[in-house]
Amino acid sequence: MTEKPDTQSNQMWGGRFADGPDAIMEAINASIGFDQRLAAQDIQGSRAHAAMLAATGIITDSDAEAIREGLLTVLSEIETGTFQFSTALEDIHMNVEARLKELIGEPAGRLHTGRSRNDQVATDFRLWVRDQMDAVDGALASLMSGLVEQAEDCADWVMPGFTHLQVAQPVTWGHHMLAYVEMFARDRSRFADARVRMNESPLGAAALAGTSFPIDREMTAKALGFDRPCANSLDAVSDRDFALEFLGAASICAMHLSRLAEELVIWSSAQFRFVTLSDRFSTGSSIMPQKKNPDAAELIRAKIGRILGAQVGLLTVMKGLPLTYSKDMQEDKEQLFDAADNLMLALAAMDGMVRDMSANREALAAAAGSGFSTATDLADWLVRVLGVPFREAHHVTGALVAMAEEQRCDLSELPLADMQSVHDGITGDVFSVLSVENSVASRMSFGGTAPERVREQVALWKERLG
Ligand code: ARG
Repeated sequence: MTEKPDTQSNQMWGGRFADGPDAIMEAINASIGFDQRLAAQDIQGSRAHAAMLAATGIITDSDAEAIREGLLTVLSEIETGTFQFSTALEDIHMNVEARLKELIGEPAGRLHTGRSRNDQVATDFRLWVRDQMDAVDGALASLMSGLVEQAEDCADWVMPGFTHLQVAQPVTWGHHMLAYVEMFARDRSRFADARVRMNESPLGAAALAGTSFPIDREMTAKALGFDRPCANSLDAVSDRDFALEFLGAASICAMHLSRLAEELVIWSSAQFRFVTLSDRFSTGSSIMPQKKNPDAAELIRAKIGRILGAQVGLLTVMKGLPLTYSKDMQEDKEQLFDAADNLMLALAAMDGMVRDMSANREALAAAAGSGFSTATDLADWLVRVLGVPFREAHHVTGALVAMAEEQRCDLSELPLADMQSVHDGITGDVFSVLSVENSVASRMSFGGTAPERVREQVALWKERLG
């Protein structure tokens, strides 16, 4: 950041101050180091405000025009990196306004009529969070498409389904991929819900009580893409629940990403070999030449830490604050910026990993049949064909599993005669349900893992995702 030396009292509010601030005061007070990220939104808000001031006759058209042109110059200076940010001017709002004054002189001083930095910052921050929600939505849609492609390509590949990370029942790869599509779809809808709720304009709430100028809040709300102005000026300047909702949705989304990342870490290990991650999303070890590490997945797994941290941090800042604005609220931005950046990065990395990874059909199939994964199918067969009550069928199957364990073979390899020694009604037909393929094909209930069901869902998702 380029510095302008400044030992004077603040030119924006220093009227009653004889001295400039202590250096430590300036350091703790200034937010320009991070809130410069709100520059585009700040200028957007100011342009809407100036146009409204002219439309309502509060300032002249020529002043509004000078302000508009000046703000465009300031924006281009910021975008091209020639703008000199000053810590003495505290924040983005005063940095922009001070530069505007240098550029256009007196009309700049009329821009702040009927508003305050309190409604200004609330507006800027809402606009920024809203943009992020839209960016996250796009990133989630892309990740979902990548997962749907995986599901489509290998819809009927069998793999073990786990509970307690113990083999439970065979499932299909397509079904497993689509489980995450469902989670990310709910994440999208959480952001979308929050977006609807937050899309009201604080601008014109002024410091806290509204203003005596005949402003038109509908006009500025509309110009900024808000559905309507916030109905209560005290609430408008003092709540940050929209940021908390963003962080809440982001935390849940990061949790989903973390679970998928964890599965990729496990699946890419030599012990599992379910997937091969691409070189593009792996790293090597500086000491062990054979290693290919799933660093991207591990980092995605960890991102929940800082994102949830930001949510807890902001909730803690906000709790107990009396209405309306307190400077505490300046602490709302840095952690949210960090959380948003890292969520976007994690989504992009997961998107790339998912599109690049290849499932290992043989390893998945071998594991799918291990751990007596079709034991439930056997119990269901006893119920369906022999009319055995399920509880008893569970018991009989347990005995057969113990027998197979003892003989060190799979359920499908048990001799029929041995099976009949446990339950004499069992016939050779039982072997038809002990294969993994038949097991998954039979799970035809809605939402089940049968390849046919998976393909229906793939088709639906492709239609929805366009
Ligand atoms: N930099 C401040 C913030 O981020 C802007 C609002 C300042 N308002 C005030 N009354 N001091 O919250």
